Amino acid sequence: MTEDKFTGTLCLAVFTAVLGSFQFGYNIGVINAPQQIIVAHYRGLLAVPQDEKKPHNSTDVYIPTMQTTTGYEEKEIEPDPFLPTVTMYWSLSVSIFAVGGMISSFFGGWLGDNLGRIKGMLAANGLSLIGSLLMAIAKFGPSHILIISGRFISGLYCGLVSGLVPMYIGEIAPTSLRGALGTLHQLAIVTGILVSQVIGLDFILGNADMWPVLLGLSAGPAVLQCLLLFICPESPSYLYINLGKENKAKMNLKKLRGGYDPTKDILEMKKEKEEAANEKKVSIIQLFTIASYRQPTLVALMLHMAQQFSGINGIFYYSTSIFSTAGVEQPIYATIGVGVVNTIFTIISVFLVERAGRRSLFLVGMVGMLVCAIAMTVGLVLLDRFSWMSYVSMIAIFLFVSFFEIGPGPIPWFMVAEFFSQGPRPAAIAISAFCNWTCNFIIALSFQYIAEFCGPYVFALFSAILVGFTLFIFFKVPETKGKSFEEIAAEFRKRRGGSHKGPKTAVELEYLGAKENA
Ligand code: GLC
Repeated sequence: MTEDKFTGTLCLAVFTAVLGSFQFGYNIGVINAPQQIIVAHYRGLLAVPQDEKKPHNSTDVYIPTMQTTTGYEEKEIEPDPFLPTVTMYWSLSVSIFAVGGMISSFFGGWLGDNLGRIKGMLAANGLSLIGSLLMAIAKFGPSHILIISGRFISGLYCGLVSGLVPMYIGEIAPTSLRGALGTLHQLAIVTGILVSQVIGLDFILGNADMWPVLLGLSAGPAVLQCLLLFICPESPSYLYINLGKENKAKMNLKKLRGGYDPTKDILEMKKEKEEAANEKKVSIIQLFTIASYRQPTLVALMLHMAQQFSGINGIFYYSTSIFSTAGVEQPIYATIGVGVVNTIFTIISVFLVERAGRRSLFLVGMVGMLVCAIAMTVGLVLLDRFSWMSYVSMIAIFLFVSFFEIGPGPIPWFMVAEFFSQGPRPAAIAISAFCNWTCNFIIALSFQYIAEFCGPYVFALFSAILVGFTLFIFFKVPETKGKSFEEIAAEFRKRRGGSHKGPKTAVELEYLGAKENA
């Protein structure tokens, strides 16, 4: 029986976990499609009919369009004394989600350690259900308050998911499948984004009658996840290392790996447990003060910053207006095209990541994005002179997203779990997820202003940022593919200039012996 068998139980456990990631993506994308309808509802009016173009007037209040798929994105709203308030409610409805994510991302590891990974995910779903319910009934009450609170609570859920899901998958996956299975978290996120873009079209659910259903629909996967979690095995390393339940851990390992001999995994966990016992409990502050954690923590944070400051969510939040600026005729469908390309390349990444390795894919992705960002800039700058430049920009945007999903999109989410052993892992995941959400929030808030300030040179700025992060990754990030946590720690020691080998414990010698015999 081989170690990397993709058993039914493993498949079920990963599918169940990523139902949470799907909701994360769904919530990112869902708010954009029904924007104008909900805004109109906030104003106590019916939706603005599609063919009723209003002339521009300097007193109009423009509400930024974010990935709008309804066809209303070009409209301005008539001057109205209530509009500033409505605009504020709308901005809050969009951005409060990331605030919820930022807050709760700190607690994902804590929840997983206190309740266990399975019960942690189960408890988190309570938030998802409450959030969805509030949004689903928004039409029948003070809709702005219900939507803002619903989005905040859904954000709390998604912040927990961004820690719990990669942690659970990283722990149940066999070493040789850790990257591929870890990428499924991102695949579920992008699928969620795409599904929300498509069903948010005005002739499906993005209309005046159905928008509450659209917003509340993530309750569906939440209920399914709750049901399936009851039959998913708890993480063996949580059972063994955190609770000391060796027999239960062995039993779950057998279920997950199809009945093979779990001795090698148990030895690896024994070693981690021994280290965790020596380390005591690792706090977030200790990640920065203890020398052996500092380097992997810095790298983990840089990977998440590179992912967000690459400018990807500039595309995801504002693609429709970027496509319009680039002279694309049907920006709404181009936006859905981005969602499709995004999903396809994430699938490709699932297969590539165990072959090419994380480090090389991340670097290829970053360099590819850099070239595309330059091409986008050239396309936008020369658009006035050559109309065909709109094709250059469009193709560059599609390729930018493709390169993102080859590496920088999925890899940070699971690579952080690979850098750390059981002791510091929850704290490291918490701080990385918090960093990701914070950078996401910064881009969501500032991209519009950066775009206004830089004009067609907006992606030139991101090119410069990409160069900086690419160099950092080239020099500082080790390959983790196929390596145990101890081997990864040794890589970091080597990069710090310390001994590659380090002293060996009894358990470590036992483990290495088992490996040689395997
Ligand atoms: C990653 C990012 C997220 C982004 C998504 C797009 O998951 O963390 O912010 O929206 O990729 O695919």
